[in-house]
Amino acid sequence: EKGGFASFMDKEIHDQPQAVADTLLGRTDIAGRLVLDDLRIDESVLRSIDKIVVIACGTAAYAGHVAKYAIEHWCRIPVEVELAHEFRYRDPVVNSRTLVVAISQSGETMDTLMAVRHAREQGSKVLAICNTHGSTIPRESDAVLYTHAGPEIAVASTKAFLSQITAAYLLGLYLAQLRGNKFADEIAEILGQLRAMPDKIQQVLDRAESIRQTAREMVDTSSVLFLGRHVGFPVALEGALKLKELAYIHAEGFAAGELKHGPIALIEEGQAVFVIVPSPRGRDSLHSKVISNIQEIRARGARTLVIAEDGDTDVLPYADVVFYVPQCPTLLSPLLATVPLQIFACELATSRGLDVDQPRNLAKSVTVE
Ligand code: F6R
Repeated sequence: EKGGFASFMDKEIHDQPQAVADTLLGRTDIAGRLVLDDLRIDESVLRSIDKIVVIACGTAAYAGHVAKYAIEHWCRIPVEVELAHEFRYRDPVVNSRTLVVAISQSGETMDTLMAVRHAREQGSKVLAICNTHGSTIPRESDAVLYTHAGPEIAVASTKAFLSQITAAYLLGLYLAQLRGNKFADEIAEILGQLRAMPDKIQQVLDRAESIRQTAREMVDTSSVLFLGRHVGFPVALEGALKLKELAYIHAEGFAAGELKHGPIALIEEGQAVFVIVPSPRGRDSLHSKVISNIQEIRARGARTLVIAEDGDTDVLPYADVVFYVPQCPTLLSPLLATVPLQIFACELATSRGLDVDQPRNLAKSVTVE
């Protein structure tokens, strides 16, 4: 059933082009308008919401972070992202004008379920983004957007993560359509860009040998840092989480801009640092800011492992190793930049002789609070 792969995780990493394509499939009606699966929320309610709160745990919460950047940009609705277990126990300000989005692969995570119940008690509508049909969280929610990643067997989430991000983009575009934030042709253009992503993910997979090689060389590494900015920040957090879970190595993700506010003190000779570099074609000088960050850490002895977009030669003078990914719009880039980090964690853990499908102390779904 592993389809010739050494582990379920490796297989599921390679399933990602299909998982994203399937999550995008069949989402438009005859008129070309986006539709959700099981919508028991009145459209007038969705038009009048003034805030979105995303609740989730672990990797699913990082998908929520990506959702925040996209939905706020496209819909101009404030989006908060909160760990479900924190949300539940801090008396959050939510009401009937808040749309709560619960993201969960399994649909059974107790922390997320308790937060869903709490939000509904406060009068909020809850929309679930979930990979498991008929599971508890979608059953207890007012609407569902199913990810079609197929069953995820490996404990560490990979294809579910990319599918959750994809579903969140669809939700953002759906709300933009409903609330009139964007014209139909703008939505169609973004959908077209999204539909091009599975092929680009495949290209990243086809280029994976160099990242595997790097991972094997780093088998004895004891600490790896990950830096990202904008949507690259949740990608950095996810890269660090995968490495902790699978390889039991100390790993931390930071917002690149936060470096000088503390974490730069950690940089010493030989410290491995992944840097997720935003597209040089994007606006807002984000790219040059991150290039300066690479320069700063390199000058202090860091070994820099850079993920950059095809054609970005600005990174070359400061990168010990570069992994190039295809060009795409910045908001969609987590679908590409995450993949080398998944492969890195999987390969490094495998080189250490560890079972990547069943990491120690972890369960696939956490059904206790
Ligand atoms: C990380 C991982 C976990 C889950 C988290 C939420 O690889 O798998 O962090 O993402 O436990 O699980 P779900 O999505 O099932 O609610």
